Order: sequence, then structure tokens, then C-alpha cells
Amino acid sequence: MPIYQLSNSNSVSLHIILNTKIMIQLHDKQFVPFISAKEIEFAIAKMVAQIEDDFADETPVFVGVLNGAFMKLYKKPCEVSFIKMASYEGTSSTEEVKQLIGLNQDLTGRTVVVIEDIVDTGNTVVELKALFKKQNVKHFKIATLFFKPEAYTKDVKIDYVGIRIPNKFIVGYGLDYNGLGRNLPEVYKLKE
Ligand code: IMP
Ligand code: MG
Repeated sequence: MPIYQLSNSNSVSLHIILNTKIMIQLHDKQFVPFISAKEIEFAIAKMVAQIEDDFADETPVFVGVLNGAFMKLYKKPCEVSFIKMASYEGTSSTEEVKQLIGLNQDLTGRTVVVIEDIVDTGNTVVELKALFKKQNVKHFKIATLFFKPEAYTKDVKIDYVGIRIPNKFIVGYGLDYNGLGRNLPEVYKLKE
């Protein structure tokens, strides 16, 4: 990208170009830029506004599914809690979803919004739904930043979706490939 063509009026795109690496290597695989930090932030703001609207009279409890919780933009009263689940090994989902860190809060009668980074096959959300059903919550909602509709095989409703993506493996913005890539500010996809 020739930098000399960029004038003051597109200094924002200049910034994005300079901060986005053309290709990155994580372990044995290469990834290329896919979704910019700006697009992600816009999608989150939209989803948050929708949730704020839906629960204007309540104090929802957001349960972030680590390591990808992102509900920092919510402006109204809410509580935040975390749970850790894991089903991924390398670049594909496994059937068995492990609960690695549990909830230590009584959620009886509460409005719970689970915050997922990405919903792929849906094994994790099925497991989460069962888990919260046992807790006798008042409302159970699922919000996810990324959703792969082509990979999703379950009936559980995904209530809030930030960005729908094709069935590709992505990293960045909290998502990893075998531990690496979570700290990337934008999203990269596996190079084909
Ligand atoms: P599911 O149980 O198949 O829906 O997978 C959900 C979990 O797998 C997500 O919360 C992520 O931790 C992980 N995962 C799914 N797709 C991707 C991806 O493209 N990149 C990184 N992690 C992913
Ligand atoms: Mg996850």
C-alpha cells in the first residue's frame, strides 16, 4: 500500500494499515487480516445498545466465558462474572466441553446474559444452557461477538450476534490458536 497517496482526510485508514500486519505466523500456521478493530468495536456497540434496551428495568448479570469477555461498553447497572469452558484443540472443536472454572455466585431469579467470544458448532452453548437451567435463572440469554452460522448444528437460540462469519478459523481479539494470538487487536483468518 503506497503511503504517499494517503492525505490528512484518510489518516484513519493510514493508522489501520500501519497497525495491521499483512501476515502473521502462529506456531505452524499463517493468518491474514480479516476483520478490523474498528468493525469489531462497531458491532459490539450495536449489540450492547440492543441489550441495554431489552433490559432497561433490570440489572442483568453478564457471565463472560473466558478468555473472550468483552462487555465493557454496557453503561447501565449490571454485574459481571466469569466462567471458563474449553472445547477446542488446535483449529477444531471437540465434542467434550470442559468447565474449567465454575460459577461461585447464586443466580436464582436473575437475568443472565452469557457473553461468548465465538459460537461455532454450538457444543459450548448447549453445555452452558444446561448449566444455567439448573440455577433457576429468570432469563437466560446468549450474546456472542462472532458466530459461524454454517458450522452451527444446535437449536439453542443465539440472542445477540455481533458479526456473522463464514466457517473459517480466526484468531485475535481474544481468540487463540493453541494459546497464541489472543492479544491481537484485530481478527485474522487462517491463510488458505
Ligand atoms: P463450539 O463449542 O464449537 O461452539 O466452540 C466454541 C468455542 O471454541 C469458542 O468459545 C472458542 O473458544 C473456540 N473456537 C471456535 N471457533 C474458533 C475460531 O475460529 N478460532 C478460535 N477459537 C474458536
Ligand atoms: Mg470460548
